Order: sequence, then structure tokens, then C-alpha cells
Amino acid sequence: MDGEHAQTIGARGVDRAEPSDGLARDFERLYGSADNLGDLRVFFAPGRVNLMGAHLDYNGGPVMPTAIDRGTLIAVATRRDRKVRLRSVSEPGEFEIDLDAGRPRRRGRWVDYPVGVLAGMLGRSGERPGVDVLFGGNLPVGAGLSSSASICVGTSFALDQVWELGLSPLERVALALDAEREFVGVRCGIMDPYAVGLAQPGCLLWLDCLDSSFEHLPIDPDLSIVVADTGVRRELAQGDFNQRVSEAAEAFALLRPHHRQATCLREIPLAVFEPLRDSLADVPRRRAQHVIEEVERTFRARACLLDGDLGGFGTAMAESHRSLRDLYDVSVPELDCLVDSAMSQAGVLGARLTGAGFGGCAVILAQSALSERLAEAVATDFERRFAHRPKIEIFAGDRGPRELT
Ligand code: GLA
Repeated sequence: MDGEHAQTIGARGVDRAEPSDGLARDFERLYGSADNLGDLRVFFAPGRVNLMGAHLDYNGGPVMPTAIDRGTLIAVATRRDRKVRLRSVSEPGEFEIDLDAGRPRRRGRWVDYPVGVLAGMLGRSGERPGVDVLFGGNLPVGAGLSSSASICVGTSFALDQVWELGLSPLERVALALDAEREFVGVRCGIMDPYAVGLAQPGCLLWLDCLDSSFEHLPIDPDLSIVVADTGVRRELAQGDFNQRVSEAAEAFALLRPHHRQATCLREIPLAVFEPLRDSLADVPRRRAQHVIEEVERTFRARACLLDGDLGGFGTAMAESHRSLRDLYDVSVPELDCLVDSAMSQAGVLGARLTGAGFGGCAVILAQSALSERLAEAVATDFERRFAHRPKIEIFAGDRGPRELT
């Protein structure tokens, strides 16, 4: 791992996120310095990790994510006509949209994320000029660090700035969420765009997905967020995720007659669930148990954080991972290895898989002073078992979308 980049969550860790010169050069190479282009502007939106509240957002529960100083870079120049051209440095192809041609169509490619945001903005953009846009950055796709929310929130931020629409942060978050849900068609909860769009460095975002209320909870500046990537990318992860959403909804439908005032699984109390547990079939029983207990654990983790009981917070993370592995069936052996290895190292408070699971990354909350050493030990353990070295990085917190100068 790269020791130079070690930073605590409380640090102003934006430097690593801002290597925008390369993107500007790529922009010129790919689009040319055509006469019809206005000044080039570059924007950044972070990725996120979630520390507690796993698979709770679409069940109406609380979540505790934070943004990381790694994300999407977006270079934009206005045009003299009404065309929008979109490209990525890591994907082939150029996509073109005419702002006067009505609602753009889906293409079944990465570009659907920014195009979905654009589609939501068309009603507000009026006679604004077209733009050329190039996406880059350093967030791995499919690793559970929310590259999709990063690109969507980043696009809504960048176009809001370039077109001077005057949107609020929550309006930009809503555009990003609609793009993923309505345009791309992912059944995701609200956590990711909120985490990316409303981030503050040195804080976890406490987001209650029942009513979308949120607050920023400061975290001890001597702690680091270590993210270990299994390198496992499951092709069908999106389908698996949607299946968990359906299974949780089915479990709720079975429990609701026993607690009629509940509007989602989060509102089924443990005391209502427990006497019914054995009457449920295996899958709905285990899905419901994870959600109902994870809600309780996440409130407990919040209380621990506010009381300065970081050991208690870490214990809740470890319990969360066991529940994701045994009840929600979203872990894989590589993630379990990272978590087990991390939990046996000095200086580790807690560890669990982050994002949807099925591969991707584990997040480790650790004392900053020991985090480099434990990352090395975890990587060595993992390599011994799986014959490749996982990428492990120590992230700083990030302050959310912004224009880079
Ligand atoms: C994915 C989804 C989020 C959330 C997590 C699981 O990352 O995009 O909305 O459901 O999984 O906590």
C-alpha cells in the first residue's frame, strides 16, 4: 500500500482527489480545442463508505456513511450549439444528445447515469447552451464505493454550476437519485447520493431513511478509515441486490399483518418479530432478522459514537458483518477473510463489508497510528489464502462535490 497517502478521516484529504491536469489534457485530446468551446471547468464528487446500517436504506432504517477523498472528476466546457457530448476516459465511445430533441433514451451503458441526471434537468435548463463532458477519476467501479452516486451527484453539481441553475444540495441529490432509480432502473435506497452530496469531512452522516432527516456526527480525528478491496466483482451483483430488495419487501408483507401501523421493515419492533420468527420460512426469517437487528445495532452504534465509546461502535460493526454473512447472505469468503484478519489486529475497532456486498470492499475502522501496520498484516493474510494481494488504502474524509481550481 502507498504509505504517502495515509491520512486520518479528520484531515483535509482533498489533494489526492484533485489530479485534474491529466483530465484537462485528455479533454483536449478527445474533443479538440474547438472554437465552439467555452472555458474548461473541472468538478469533483467523492465516493462513500458506509460504516453502519447495512441494507437498511431501502428498508427505511438509519445509515452512517461518510465520503472518501476518491471519486469522479468531471471536465465540462460549454458549446455554442445545443448539443451535449459525453465521454469517459475509461470507457470507449462518445454519446451525443440534442437538448432540443426531448427526453433522451436509455442506452444500457455507463452513460445512462449522467444522461439520467441530464434528463431530470431538461425542464429547468431552458435555453442553456450544450456542453462537452469528460468523466474520469479514481473510484473503482463495482467495488461498493458508490461510483454510480458519485457520477450522478457530480453531474448534477457540475451542470448546476455551468448552467447557473441555483439548485440546492438536496435538489441535486434528488436529481441523482431519480437518475439511478427512474432512468437507469436500479432499486437503490437513498443512502448513496445523500452520502456523496451532503458530506462533511471528519463526520459520519447520520441519515434516517424513514423521513430523510440527517445530521453530521463528528468522529474522533485519531481514527482512520481503511478500505480493503477483495478485487472480486460479481457480474450479477445488480440482480442479487434487487433480489435482496424484493426479499426484504416480502418479509415485510408477511410481518405487517402483525403490526399494522408499520410502513416498512424498520418499523417492525424486535418484540413483534421474535415470537413470529419460527413461523416464517428460512429466507424471509433471516432477511427480516438482519434488518430488524441492524436497526437496533445502528442506533446503538450512534449512541456509542456520541458517548465516545469507540469500542462499542466497533463491536456493532463486527456484529453487522456476521449478520450480513449469516442472515443476509451478501458476503463472500474474500470479504470474510479481510474482516476476520482485520479484527485480529491491534488498533482495529471494527470491520465489515461495505456497500451491497457480493464482493467489493471491506471497511475497517482503526486507530490511525496503527493503520499502516494492520493494513500490511491484513494484505499478507489475504494473499496467503487467495494468492493475490488486495488493494488496501487509508482514506481521508471528504467535503462533498465541488469545483476544482
Ligand atoms: C448499495 C445501494 C445502497 C445500499 C447498499 C447496502 O450500495 O446502492 O442504496 O442499499 O447497497 O447498504
